[in-house]
Amino acid sequence: MGSVDSQQRILSGMRPSGRLHLGHYHGVLKNWVKLQHEFDCFFFVADWHAMTTHYESPMTIEQHVWEMVVDWLAAGVDPGSTTLFVQSKVPEHAELHLLLSMITPLSWLERVPSYKEQQDKLGQSTELATYGFLGYPLLQAADILIYRANAVPVGLDQAPHLEMAREIARRFNHLFGKEMGFEANVQLAIRKLGKKGAGLYSALRKRFNESGDQEALETAQALIKDHQNITMADKERLLGYLEGEGKVILPEPQALLSIESKMPGLDGQKMSKSYGNMISLRDDNDSVQSKIKTMRTDPARVRLTDPGDPEQCPVWSLHQVYSDDTTKAWVQDGCRNAGIGCLDCKKPIIDAVISELEPIQQRAERYENDPDLIKSIIQEGSERARDAARETMDDVREAMGLNYR
Ligand code: TRP
Ligand code: SF4
Repeated sequence: MGSVDSQQRILSGMRPSGRLHLGHYHGVLKNWVKLQHEFDCFFFVADWHAMTTHYESPMTIEQHVWEMVVDWLAAGVDPGSTTLFVQSKVPEHAELHLLLSMITPLSWLERVPSYKEQQDKLGQSTELATYGFLGYPLLQAADILIYRANAVPVGLDQAPHLEMAREIARRFNHLFGKEMGFEANVQLAIRKLGKKGAGLYSALRKRFNESGDQEALETAQALIKDHQNITMADKERLLGYLEGEGKVILPEPQALLSIESKMPGLDGQKMSKSYGNMISLRDDNDSVQSKIKTMRTDPARVRLTDPGDPEQCPVWSLHQVYSDDTTKAWVQDGCRNAGIGCLDCKKPIIDAVISELEPIQQRAERYENDPDLIKSIIQEGSERARDAARETMDDVREAMGLNYR
């Protein structure tokens, strides 16, 4: 996705996992902070998703929700330019999930890699042989489709879920995107584009349908989206007619593949709570310092005079995140020629982490001292999200013949 487009909607969610660490910051939050100025961003706490795996301890979820939201804000997510909300406060997600479940083949869910992996890992155990766990990628599809999101920033592990959301949208539109008198309504809508617009629209549609010209499709889509004099319903008809014969009720979201930032932990493995190798966003300077000072280094460097190999050292992985070329060259040379000690080598990392965390912790403190503010941010965000979700659900119910009284 190239140019700045505040009309494009981005949606992303995170399970409530309590306090966040530098892995979340570098892997996700920094990206959100960047996106929030370029797009219409919806970020939410996926609290129902937590229940698909942790249904035995639901009472811990609430605390994790608030802790995580504080850390989002502390990281620089701006409640003034994004919509921040909690999934369970927008019950429309559940309604869409239910309705989508009617058209979702079981085999689509069974072949999602995370499901297959879990089943293999658990073997005989029936702990996660629940309906909720099997269905969670569909819940995720509902999360995305209900906001008609254009794009979803995902890591590679989540890409199959997004692909399934796209398949569900296609199937839904195919089954229910037929409106009585659609052709006639489209012709009326085309006329409303004006003579020039109508000609251009038809030519671009023809080009796309005859040769699959993606650029023609995108130009036509932009033409419709930017048009001032036509209603939302007509826009949808014209967009649907471009690609097929129907009306697009649930647009297919694009994947916004983030450059996989595998933030290394203190031991060189990916930073993760379960590995106990993390620096929390709330670690104070002393604990940052002692965590880094006690990191293991290349085992070949027992004495200061022993040359080392940065490739064998988790400290080097952190230099790749934090250091500029000059510092990196200094490490390479100093390590291989035994010119620097490991504590010298760690110093710039300690400084970089501490100064990275400083503004985060200042903001965290402010928010932590004002729980009412956090609650009102989430309440307002959830209401805004609900308005958007309700609009989609009106169309979904109508398409499925459920808007009778
Ligand atoms: N499944 C995601 C995770 O475990 C969280 C999530 C739920 C999500 N719904 C989403 C992410 C919708 C993106 C879009 O991390
Ligand atoms: Fe690791 Fe740096 Fe020590 Fe080399 S000098 S072993 S890179 S900490």
